[in-house]
Amino acid sequence: MRIAIVGTGYVGLVTGVCLAKIGHQVTCVDVDEDKIAQLSSGEVPFYEPGLGEMLDQQRKEKRIAFTVNPGAAFANAEAIFIAVGTPQGIDGMPDLQALITVAQTIGRHVQHDVIVVIKSTVPIGTNTFLAQIIAEHLVHPVSVRVASNPEFLREGSAVYDTFHGDRIVIGTDDAEVAGILAAIYEPLHIPILHTDIRSAEMIKYASNAFLATKISFINEIANLCESLGATIEDVARGMGMDQRIGEKFLRAGIGYGGSCFPKDVKALLGMAELSGDQLQILQAVERVNRKQQMRLVEKAASRFGDLRGKRIALLGLSFKPDTDDMREAPSLGIAAALLEHGAQVVAYDPVSMNHARTYLPAQVELFESAEQALAGADAAFVLTEWQEFTLPAFVPKLRAMREAVVFDGRNCLHDSVLEDDAVEYHPIGRQLGKKL
Ligand code: UGA
Repeated sequence: MRIAIVGTGYVGLVTGVCLAKIGHQVTCVDVDEDKIAQLSSGEVPFYEPGLGEMLDQQRKEKRIAFTVNPGAAFANAEAIFIAVGTPQGIDGMPDLQALITVAQTIGRHVQHDVIVVIKSTVPIGTNTFLAQIIAEHLVHPVSVRVASNPEFLREGSAVYDTFHGDRIVIGTDDAEVAGILAAIYEPLHIPILHTDIRSAEMIKYASNAFLATKISFINEIANLCESLGATIEDVARGMGMDQRIGEKFLRAGIGYGGSCFPKDVKALLGMAELSGDQLQILQAVERVNRKQQMRLVEKAASRFGDLRGKRIALLGLSFKPDTDDMREAPSLGIAAALLEHGAQVVAYDPVSMNHARTYLPAQVELFESAEQALAGADAAFVLTEWQEFTLPAFVPKLRAMREAVVFDGRNCLHDSVLEDDAVEYHPIGRQLGKKL
């Protein structure tokens, strides 16, 4: 089919490239001219493993094109996918301005019957509202039918997730539209759930909120494991073997970050409040997460008594590995808190150094390698489980510190760290230096 995709961020670009890969003819459109120029020359504007190669292949096979001209993108499209951002607005709710503009643009430009598929994460009721905006702006007497099709891919494994998703959710009251979308996705062989529009919108929020809940829950259990002498990895493994619980998203650490969980949890809380309801569990999830992000700072403060003048090396800055995304990364709050305590903060990340500079306070000194950041440090905080930090060869590097006191916020350092007498190791949810 001929498909137009509006928005070339993570969701839009990955969707576009993957739909091209399964045989569709895709045109991606974005208002950002620089981005479109980059993409037209085969360059992916963000770090996402595997995406660049797949984009190259689809460009060679002429199944994907990029433009800033919506009229050209929509001209022959049988379906228009919208994947523009819905960043957090000042009131804590998603800012829908970009979506509204796209809806108006679609109304003004479409000259034939088309279906519009909204992938952006939007508050319940928004898809119907956008359908009205499109209808109000139509210039030609055509039919535009709207469906909700929320996205479940993760940054860092976005391509894999697109091909190996657990489900595709299609929210529409129109059986024909559901059939067309099912046909678009058919080559992926992923189970499809057809619901009404509002339920599809809610599935997205409830799923992210539930995953965030799992993380806050396991983090609280980890803290208790420290107090009571249990080992969180064993506890999580034992829990996860119960298929009703499931083994995924039970990795304890320094809390969740990123552009999705914090924003979506807030939005769902906001929606509940507006409708006069209360989501008490989710309120606690958010509170626990805020506290957990400060866990290493508290541990270091109690270990050293006073953090003034201590040189602390942050290892890993992005909100998780395999992405350069710094949005809502725990490293940001941790760096600010350490500076407030009077510590000297230095940092290193294998991929997100450029992004990190624009997000971190200017006082944080960035180094090009872990060795440089560690040299002369009094303590190290491991904040992102980049593969580099997990290798046995990384452990001896910790000796470059003045005092090798290591707080591992992701429990990711290789077990050989426990045998290194020069390193004082503080993991999460285990007794100090306890072997697994
Ligand atoms: C998340 C969801 O996993 C996707 O399904 C969803 O499509 C996406 O949000 C979105 O709404 O667009 P993402 O934010 O890319 O994906 O990253 P995750 O892998 O889910 O990780 C989120 C945060 O949770 C990270 O900070 C990660 O370190 C943390 N996490 C994850 C844990 O602390 N423990 C875990 O066991 C898993």
